[in-house]
Amino acid sequence: MIEKKEYEGVFIFDHPLIQHKLALMRDKNTSTKEFRELVSEVSMLMAYEVTRDIPLRPVDVETPIGIAHCHMIDGKKLALVPILRAGLGMVDGMINLIPMAKVGHIGLYRKPKTFKPVEYYCKLPDDIENRDVILLDPMLATGGSAAAAVDFLKKRNIEHIKFVCLVAAPEGIEHFHGVHPDIPIFCAALDDCLDDHAYIVPGLGDAGDRLFGTK
Ligand code: PRP
Ligand code: URA
Repeated sequence: MIEKKEYEGVFIFDHPLIQHKLALMRDKNTSTKEFRELVSEVSMLMAYEVTRDIPLRPVDVETPIGIAHCHMIDGKKLALVPILRAGLGMVDGMINLIPMAKVGHIGLYRKPKTFKPVEYYCKLPDDIENRDVILLDPMLATGGSAAAAVDFLKKRNIEHIKFVCLVAAPEGIEHFHGVHPDIPIFCAALDDCLDDHAYIVPGLGDAGDRLFGTK
């Protein structure tokens, strides 16, 4: 994982498996089934990297032979919060590695003309304020959706949030860190720019449509 020099707080997953699978995902000929599998696999690899700093506590474990001095996860519990729809594609892969995490959902869609996010659903675990949150959405385009989702989470007094996406645009990073400079962004790629429809160039197209086969 590398931190971008020009963007403090932006970390790129440079692991060869993640980069290889992202290249397959970008291909316009990749089928819905393959795309969904790739998003899930990359999310699992990202879970491994993004949980690198969670605290451990020492434990003694009795093996069939003797006592082993080991370590287990300590500290606050985790919650995964996908932004609907496309964030859903990242949940399975992550929760395979972090089965103790609870899952909250925030539903947002972008208005076609203004690209501003509109909320249509929010259901978070009751004890969300006692959890560290990993916010999930494959695309950070204008940054409006991710910033609005963090607004919700901050209103619930959540102290530690990490935002994890697949592809980010410079415009999205600048907007998001303009309003939430304290939230780190983890992504597999930082692309060139947005097009006139606020799609990421070269990106991978509409992540929701590619995941669910809606176009
Ligand atoms: C996509 C994507 C993000 C958002 C990113 O969702 O999954 O949530 O756009 O764009 P932004 O950074 O400009 O806000 P979309 O609104 O297309 O909804 P969907 O996931 O239901 O397809
Ligand atoms: N949403 C997507 O799904 N893709 C983009 O490139 C931008 C927003």
